[in-house]
Amino acid sequence: MAFGRIGRSLTALEIFELVRPELHQVEREIGLESVASADAITYIGQYLQSGGGKRLRPILVLLCGKLLGPAKPALVRMAAVVEMIHTATLVHDDVIDMAKTRRGRPSINVVWGNHTSVLAGDWLYMQAFQVALRERNFLMLDLLMTLTQMMVEGELLQLERIGKIAVTEADYMELIDRKTASLFSACARLGAMSSGVDEATETRLGEYAWNLGIAFQLVDDILDFTSREKILGKPVGNDLREGKVTLPLIYALESAEPEERRLVETVLADGNYDQVPFGKILQILNRHGSIERAQEKAQTFTQTARTVISEFPDSTYQRALLSVTDLITERDH
Ligand code: IPE
Ligand code: IPE
Ligand code: MG
Ligand code: MG
Repeated sequence: MAFGRIGRSLTALEIFELVRPELHQVEREIGLESVASADAITYIGQYLQSGGGKRLRPILVLLCGKLLGPAKPALVRMAAVVEMIHTATLVHDDVIDMAKTRRGRPSINVVWGNHTSVLAGDWLYMQAFQVALRERNFLMLDLLMTLTQMMVEGELLQLERIGKIAVTEADYMELIDRKTASLFSACARLGAMSSGVDEATETRLGEYAWNLGIAFQLVDDILDFTSREKILGKPVGNDLREGKVTLPLIYALESAEPEERRLVETVLADGNYDQVPFGKILQILNRHGSIERAQEKAQTFTQTARTVISEFPDSTYQRALLSVTDLITERDH
Protein backbone atom coordinates (compact mmCIF):
# COMPACT_ATOMS: atom_id res chain seq x y z
CA MET A 1 0.00 0.00 0.00
CA ALA A 2 1.42 3.38 -0.95
CA PHE A 3 0.99 6.42 1.23
CA GLY A 4 2.79 9.02 -0.80
CA ARG A 5 6.14 10.48 -0.10
CA ILE A 6 8.48 9.22 2.59
CA GLY A 7 7.99 10.77 6.00
CA ARG A 8 4.34 11.67 5.65
CA SER A 9 2.33 10.93 8.77
CA LEU A 10 -0.70 8.66 8.64
CA THR A 11 -4.21 9.45 9.80
CA ALA A 12 -6.04 7.21 12.27
CA LEU A 13 -8.08 5.80 9.41
CA GLU A 14 -5.00 4.99 7.33
CA ILE A 15 -3.43 3.23 10.31
CA PHE A 16 -6.60 1.26 10.87
CA GLU A 17 -6.66 0.26 7.19
CA LEU A 18 -3.16 -1.21 7.54
CA VAL A 19 -4.34 -3.80 10.04
CA ARG A 20 -8.02 -4.08 9.11
CA PRO A 21 -8.04 -7.71 7.89
CA GLU A 22 -6.11 -8.93 10.95
CA LEU A 23 -8.21 -6.83 13.30
CA HIS A 24 -11.27 -8.45 11.83
CA GLN A 25 -9.78 -11.85 12.64
CA VAL A 26 -8.98 -10.65 16.15
CA GLU A 27 -12.63 -9.71 16.70
CA ARG A 28 -13.68 -13.10 15.41
CA GLU A 29 -11.26 -14.87 17.73
CA ILE A 30 -12.39 -12.85 20.76
CA GLY A 31 -16.04 -13.61 19.92
CA LEU A 32 -15.38 -17.32 19.57
CA GLU A 33 -13.30 -17.45 22.73
CA SER A 34 -15.77 -15.59 24.94
CA VAL A 35 -18.34 -18.36 25.03
CA ALA A 36 -18.71 -20.31 28.28
CA SER A 37 -21.06 -22.96 29.59
CA ALA A 38 -22.24 -20.32 32.07
CA ASP A 39 -24.62 -17.99 30.20
CA ALA A 40 -23.69 -14.94 32.25
CA ILE A 41 -20.13 -15.06 30.94
CA THR A 42 -21.25 -15.37 27.33
CA TYR A 43 -23.63 -12.40 27.74
CA ILE A 44 -20.95 -10.33 29.43
CA GLY A 45 -18.52 -11.26 26.66
CA GLN A 46 -20.95 -10.06 24.01
CA TYR A 47 -21.73 -6.89 25.96
CA LEU A 48 -18.03 -6.10 26.27
CA GLN A 49 -17.22 -6.78 22.66
CA SER A 50 -20.09 -4.73 21.27
CA GLY A 51 -19.39 -1.82 23.63
CA GLY A 52 -16.79 -0.19 21.43
CA GLY A 53 -13.35 0.44 22.80
CA LYS A 54 -10.47 1.73 20.75
CA ARG A 55 -8.71 -1.63 20.31
CA LEU A 56 -5.47 0.24 20.72
CA ARG A 57 -3.56 -2.67 22.22
CA PRO A 58 -4.34 -5.24 19.50
CA ILE A 59 -3.60 -2.57 16.88
CA LEU A 60 -0.22 -2.06 18.51
CA VAL A 61 0.52 -5.80 18.47
CA LEU A 62 -0.42 -6.00 14.80
CA LEU A 63 1.51 -2.92 13.70
CA CYS A 64 4.65 -4.02 15.54
CA GLY A 65 4.38 -7.54 14.14
CA LYS A 66 3.80 -6.38 10.58
CA LEU A 67 6.65 -3.90 10.88
CA LEU A 68 8.96 -6.88 11.15
CA GLY A 69 7.36 -9.36 8.76
CA PRO A 70 4.12 -10.74 7.32
CA ALA A 71 1.33 -11.44 9.79
CA LYS A 72 1.38 -15.01 11.10
CA PRO A 73 -1.47 -16.73 12.96
CA ALA A 74 0.44 -16.19 16.23
CA LEU A 75 0.26 -12.44 15.71
CA VAL A 76 -3.53 -12.37 15.44
CA ARG A 77 -3.81 -14.70 18.41
CA MET A 78 -1.60 -12.51 20.60
CA ALA A 79 -3.53 -9.41 19.55
CA ALA A 80 -6.72 -11.14 20.75
CA VAL A 81 -5.00 -12.20 23.98
CA VAL A 82 -3.93 -8.67 24.96
CA GLU A 83 -7.40 -7.26 24.33
CA MET A 84 -8.90 -10.02 26.48
CA ILE A 85 -6.45 -9.27 29.28
CA HIS A 86 -7.19 -5.55 28.93
CA THR A 87 -10.93 -6.23 29.12
CA ALA A 88 -10.54 -8.44 32.18
CA THR A 89 -8.61 -5.67 33.98
CA LEU A 90 -11.33 -3.16 33.09
CA VAL A 91 -14.06 -5.43 34.47
CA HIS A 92 -12.20 -5.82 37.77
CA ASP A 93 -11.18 -2.15 37.77
CA ASP A 94 -14.78 -1.00 37.52
CA VAL A 95 -15.73 -3.19 40.46
CA ILE A 96 -12.87 -1.76 42.53
CA ASP A 97 -13.63 1.83 41.49
CA MET A 98 -17.39 1.32 41.78
CA ALA A 99 -17.60 2.84 38.31
CA LYS A 100 -21.01 3.46 36.79
CA THR A 101 -20.10 3.84 33.12
CA ARG A 102 -17.56 2.39 30.73
CA ARG A 103 -17.35 2.97 26.99
CA GLY A 104 -20.44 5.16 27.19
CA ARG A 105 -22.65 2.45 28.66
CA PRO A 106 -23.49 1.14 32.13
CA SER A 107 -20.44 -0.82 33.30
CA ILE A 108 -20.54 -4.59 33.81
CA ASN A 109 -20.72 -4.24 37.60
CA VAL A 110 -23.81 -2.03 37.25
CA VAL A 111 -25.59 -4.47 34.93
CA TRP A 112 -24.56 -7.80 36.49
CA GLY A 113 -23.41 -6.83 40.00
CA ASN A 114 -20.01 -7.16 41.67
CA HIS A 115 -20.03 -10.89 42.34
CA THR A 116 -20.70 -11.94 38.77
CA SER A 117 -18.28 -9.29 37.47
CA VAL A 118 -15.39 -10.58 39.58
CA LEU A 119 -15.97 -14.11 38.36
CA ALA A 120 -16.39 -13.03 34.75
CA GLY A 121 -13.10 -11.10 35.01
CA ASP A 122 -11.37 -14.20 36.42
CA TRP A 123 -12.78 -16.30 33.61
CA LEU A 124 -11.64 -13.82 30.98
CA TYR A 125 -8.09 -13.78 32.36
CA MET A 126 -7.95 -17.55 32.27
CA GLN A 127 -9.43 -17.68 28.79
CA ALA A 128 -6.79 -15.24 27.58
CA PHE A 129 -4.13 -17.59 28.94
CA GLN A 130 -5.84 -20.60 27.36
CA VAL A 131 -5.64 -18.89 23.98
CA ALA A 132 -2.02 -17.88 24.56
CA LEU A 133 -1.15 -21.42 25.63
CA ARG A 134 -2.06 -22.71 22.16
CA GLU A 135 1.12 -21.11 20.83
CA ARG A 136 3.17 -23.46 23.05
CA ASN A 137 5.60 -20.61 23.55
CA PHE A 138 6.99 -20.34 27.10
CA LEU A 139 8.57 -16.94 26.51
CA MET A 140 5.21 -15.49 25.53
CA LEU A 141 3.47 -17.11 28.50
CA ASP A 142 6.19 -15.88 30.83
CA LEU A 143 5.79 -12.35 29.53
CA LEU A 144 1.99 -12.45 29.84
CA MET A 145 2.03 -13.80 33.38
CA THR A 146 4.65 -11.35 34.61
CA LEU A 147 2.65 -8.58 32.99
CA THR A 148 -0.65 -9.59 34.57
CA GLN A 149 0.90 -9.79 38.03
CA MET A 150 2.52 -6.41 37.48
CA MET A 151 -0.86 -4.89 36.58
CA VAL A 152 -2.59 -6.43 39.58
CA GLU A 153 0.19 -5.12 41.84
CA GLY A 154 -0.38 -1.70 40.26
CA GLU A 155 -4.07 -1.82 41.12
CA LEU A 156 -3.20 -2.87 44.70
CA LEU A 157 -0.72 -0.03 45.01
CA GLN A 158 -3.38 2.37 43.79
CA LEU A 159 -5.85 0.98 46.31
CA GLU A 160 -3.42 1.64 49.16
CA ARG A 161 -3.14 5.26 48.06
CA ILE A 162 -6.84 5.96 47.62
CA GLY A 163 -7.91 9.15 49.35
CA LYS A 164 -4.34 10.19 50.16
CA ILE A 165 -3.20 13.67 49.16
CA ALA A 166 0.53 13.06 49.72
CA VAL A 167 1.33 11.41 46.39
CA THR A 168 4.60 12.32 44.71
CA GLU A 169 5.37 12.46 41.02
CA ALA A 170 7.62 9.41 41.47
CA ASP A 171 4.77 7.46 43.15
CA TYR A 172 2.50 8.37 40.27
CA MET A 173 5.01 7.36 37.61
CA GLU A 174 5.53 3.98 39.24
CA LEU A 175 1.80 3.41 39.23
CA ILE A 176 1.20 4.23 35.58
CA ASP A 177 4.21 2.16 34.61
CA ARG A 178 2.55 -0.84 36.21
CA LYS A 179 -1.06 -0.32 35.33
CA THR A 180 -0.72 0.91 31.74
CA ALA A 181 2.76 1.15 30.23
CA SER A 182 3.67 -2.44 31.05
CA LEU A 183 0.77 -3.70 28.91
CA PHE A 184 1.69 -1.40 26.02
CA SER A 185 5.26 -2.64 26.19
CA ALA A 186 4.07 -6.26 26.24
CA CYS A 187 1.95 -5.60 23.13
CA ALA A 188 4.98 -4.50 21.13
CA ARG A 189 7.13 -7.34 22.41
CA LEU A 190 4.49 -9.93 21.59
CA GLY A 191 4.22 -8.47 18.09
CA ALA A 192 7.98 -8.79 17.72
CA MET A 193 8.04 -12.31 19.17
CA SER A 194 5.34 -13.43 16.75
CA SER A 195 7.59 -12.35 13.90
CA GLY A 196 10.53 -14.19 15.41
CA VAL A 197 13.00 -11.29 15.55
CA ASP A 198 16.11 -10.95 17.69
CA GLU A 199 15.90 -9.91 21.34
CA ALA A 200 17.46 -6.48 20.81
CA THR A 201 14.76 -5.50 18.31
CA GLU A 202 12.08 -6.81 20.64
CA THR A 203 13.51 -4.75 23.53
CA ARG A 204 13.68 -1.62 21.39
CA LEU A 205 10.07 -1.97 20.26
CA GLY A 206 9.08 -2.62 23.88
CA GLU A 207 10.76 0.67 24.84
CA TYR A 208 8.86 2.52 22.14
CA ALA A 209 5.54 1.15 23.36
CA TRP A 210 6.37 1.67 27.04
CA ASN A 211 6.90 5.38 26.41
CA LEU A 212 3.72 5.46 24.37
CA GLY A 213 1.83 3.81 27.25
CA ILE A 214 3.10 6.32 29.81
CA ALA A 215 2.02 9.17 27.52
CA PHE A 216 -1.34 7.47 26.98
CA GLN A 217 -2.09 7.27 30.71
CA LEU A 218 -0.87 10.84 31.28
CA VAL A 219 -3.27 12.03 28.58
CA ASP A 220 -6.03 9.88 30.08
CA ASP A 221 -5.51 11.56 33.45
CA ILE A 222 -5.47 15.01 31.82
CA LEU A 223 -8.67 14.25 29.89
CA ASP A 224 -10.31 13.30 33.17
CA PHE A 225 -10.11 17.02 33.99
CA THR A 226 -10.50 18.63 30.58
CA SER A 227 -12.90 16.48 28.56
CA ARG A 228 -16.65 15.94 28.66
CA GLU A 229 -18.49 12.77 29.61
CA LYS A 230 -20.19 12.48 26.22
CA ILE A 231 -16.84 12.39 24.44
CA LEU A 232 -14.95 10.36 27.04
CA GLY A 233 -17.55 7.64 27.62
CA LYS A 234 -16.98 7.90 31.37
CA PRO A 235 -17.61 10.78 33.80
CA VAL A 236 -15.10 13.63 34.12
CA GLY A 237 -13.59 14.60 37.43
CA ASN A 238 -13.82 10.94 38.20
CA ASP A 239 -10.28 10.29 39.39
CA LEU A 240 -10.39 12.79 42.23
CA ARG A 241 -13.88 11.68 43.19
CA GLU A 242 -12.55 8.11 43.34
CA GLY A 243 -9.76 9.35 45.62
CA LYS A 244 -7.00 9.28 43.00
CA VAL A 245 -4.49 12.09 42.94
CA THR A 246 -3.08 12.17 39.41
CA LEU A 247 -0.25 14.21 37.90
CA PRO A 248 -2.05 17.49 37.07
CA LEU A 249 -3.21 17.65 40.68
CA ILE A 250 0.18 16.60 42.05
CA TYR A 251 1.72 19.52 40.16
CA ALA A 252 -0.91 21.98 41.44
CA LEU A 253 -0.47 20.79 45.02
CA GLU A 254 3.28 21.46 44.85
CA SER A 255 2.60 25.19 44.86
CA ALA A 256 -0.97 25.34 46.19
CA GLU A 257 -2.09 27.73 48.93
CA PRO A 258 -3.26 26.05 52.19
CA GLU A 259 -6.85 26.98 51.28
CA GLU A 260 -6.56 25.31 47.86
CA ARG A 261 -5.12 22.20 49.46
CA ARG A 262 -8.04 22.16 51.87
CA LEU A 263 -10.51 22.17 48.97
CA VAL A 264 -8.79 19.17 47.37
CA GLU A 265 -8.79 17.40 50.72
CA THR A 266 -12.51 18.02 51.07
CA VAL A 267 -13.29 16.30 47.73
CA LEU A 268 -10.99 13.40 48.67
CA ALA A 269 -12.74 13.00 52.03
CA ASP A 270 -16.28 13.40 50.65
CA GLY A 271 -15.86 11.36 47.46
CA ASN A 272 -18.08 13.89 45.67
CA TYR A 273 -18.24 17.49 44.49
CA ASP A 274 -21.15 18.53 46.73
CA GLN A 275 -19.16 20.94 48.92
CA VAL A 276 -16.44 21.83 46.45
CA PRO A 277 -17.65 21.97 42.85
CA PHE A 278 -15.52 20.41 40.12
CA GLY A 279 -15.11 23.87 38.52
CA LYS A 280 -13.31 25.05 41.65
CA ILE A 281 -10.73 22.26 41.27
CA LEU A 282 -10.29 23.18 37.60
CA GLN A 283 -9.60 26.78 38.66
CA ILE A 284 -6.85 25.59 40.97
CA LEU A 285 -5.28 23.53 38.18
CA ASN A 286 -5.46 26.47 35.78
CA ARG A 287 -4.02 28.92 38.30
CA HIS A 288 -0.92 26.76 38.62
CA GLY A 289 -0.63 25.87 34.93
CA SER A 290 -0.75 22.22 35.94
CA ILE A 291 -2.59 20.89 32.89
CA GLU A 292 0.02 22.40 30.54
CA ARG A 293 2.82 21.05 32.69
CA ALA A 294 1.34 17.55 32.57
CA GLN A 295 0.85 17.89 28.81
CA GLU A 296 4.51 18.81 28.41
CA LYS A 297 5.47 15.80 30.48
CA ALA A 298 3.37 13.55 28.19
CA GLN A 299 5.15 15.13 25.20
CA THR A 300 8.54 14.11 26.56
CA PHE A 301 7.45 10.48 26.51
CA THR A 302 5.92 10.63 23.04
CA GLN A 303 9.14 12.29 21.90
CA THR A 304 11.18 9.38 23.27
CA ALA A 305 8.81 6.93 21.59
CA ARG A 306 9.32 8.82 18.32
CA THR A 307 13.09 8.75 18.69
CA VAL A 308 13.12 5.01 19.28
CA ILE A 309 10.82 4.16 16.37
CA SER A 310 12.74 6.54 14.05
CA GLU A 311 15.71 4.19 14.31
CA PHE A 312 13.75 1.52 12.45
CA PRO A 313 13.96 1.50 8.64
CA ASP A 314 11.40 3.64 6.86
CA SER A 315 8.26 1.72 5.92
CA THR A 316 4.52 2.27 6.01
CA TYR A 317 4.32 0.44 9.34
CA GLN A 318 7.17 2.42 10.81
CA ARG A 319 5.42 5.63 9.79
CA ALA A 320 2.17 4.31 11.24
CA LEU A 321 3.87 3.68 14.58
CA LEU A 322 5.39 7.14 14.39
CA SER A 323 1.97 8.66 13.71
CA VAL A 324 0.39 6.75 16.61
CA THR A 325 2.44 8.93 18.98
CA ASP A 326 0.68 12.07 17.69
CA LEU A 327 -2.72 10.45 17.81
CA ILE A 328 -2.17 9.54 21.47
CA THR A 329 -1.28 13.06 22.55
CA GLU A 330 -3.97 14.70 20.42
CA ARG A 331 -6.78 12.31 21.27
CA ASP A 332 -9.98 13.47 22.95
CA HIS A 333 -11.15 10.10 24.29
C1 IPE B 1 -8.68 2.40 29.56
O1 IPE B 1 -8.02 2.11 28.36
C2 IPE B 1 -7.78 2.14 30.71
C3 IPE B 1 -6.61 3.01 30.74
C4 IPE B 1 -5.41 2.54 30.72
C5 IPE B 1 -6.80 4.45 30.85
P1 IPE B 1 -8.61 2.54 26.94
O2 IPE B 1 -8.89 4.01 26.96
O3 IPE B 1 -7.70 2.03 25.88
O4 IPE B 1 -9.98 1.77 26.92
P2 IPE B 1 -10.86 1.25 25.70
O5 IPE B 1 -10.43 -0.14 25.45
O6 IPE B 1 -10.66 2.15 24.51
O7 IPE B 1 -12.26 1.32 26.24
C1 IPE C 1 -7.33 1.69 34.39
O1 IPE C 1 -7.30 2.26 35.60
C2 IPE C 1 -7.39 0.20 34.51
C3 IPE C 1 -6.11 -0.44 34.36
C4 IPE C 1 -5.19 -0.01 33.55
C5 IPE C 1 -5.87 -1.64 35.17
P1 IPE C 1 -8.17 3.53 35.92
O2 IPE C 1 -9.15 3.21 36.98
O3 IPE C 1 -7.25 4.66 36.19
O4 IPE C 1 -8.84 3.80 34.52
P2 IPE C 1 -10.32 4.16 34.12
O5 IPE C 1 -10.39 5.63 34.30
O6 IPE C 1 -11.22 3.41 35.01
O7 IPE C 1 -10.43 3.77 32.67
MG1 MG D 1 -8.82 1.87 38.75
MG1 MG E 1 -11.22 2.90 36.96
